[in-house]
Amino acid sequence: MADRKKIVVFASGAGSNFISIYNYIDEGYINAEIVLLISNKPNCGAVNFAKKHGISTAVIDRDVMKDSVKYQEFLLSKLSFADIDLIVLAGYLKMIPEEIVCIYENKILNIHPSLLPKFGGKGYYGMKVHQAVIESKEPFTGATVHFVNTKYDEGPILLQKKIKICNDDVASIAEKVLKIEHEILPYTVKAFCDDKIRWIDNKPLIIGN
Ligand code: GRF
Repeated sequence: MADRKKIVVFASGAGSNFISIYNYIDEGYINAEIVLLISNKPNCGAVNFAKKHGISTAVIDRDVMKDSVKYQEFLLSKLSFADIDLIVLAGYLKMIPEEIVCIYENKILNIHPSLLPKFGGKGYYGMKVHQAVIESKEPFTGATVHFVNTKYDEGPILLQKKIKICNDDVASIAEKVLKIEHEILPYTVKAFCDDKIRWIDNKPLIIGN
């Protein structure tokens, strides 16, 4: 069996996406190890879960966050300690500095709760995404896993799953979308860890078993 990949997860919220990856690793479905959880929220669900389960955590101080140089230095110091294979942004609400995106090119995955490029970019996060989807009267929404590049929410798309909107409100859409996030994020993380991603014409493709 190939070596276990080393993953660093970034999360700012409840951490359900992070927990879903953790559980799939625990069950042996994903051949990886989460070596670090980075967050900007000291008491969020993701940090609490990591602490309970013996995963190292690094919380970014508010003052550090406000200073772009310090923010970048902090992240670089945390990330450079190990040979990292993959970074997963699982509901991380802050930008990753450009230099880090360049160092870890094609090694950073993000989950976004819409069918990108629709409802992506500045201002589209959390419930705001679902609110905008409802207001637009779109017939479908969904979730997207993409690689992170220097343009916010515009990196190469790896996988999307869509759902039909029928008599939904923001809360019910959020619930349905989160459910599919928990399917497609672990699936793509597994594909990455099993070396099942190929780049064809600068587009990532998951190859079969
Ligand atoms: C998810 O909808 C994710 O797509 C978005 O924030 C939410 C995070 O949920 N960016 P959780 O913290 O993983 O539960």
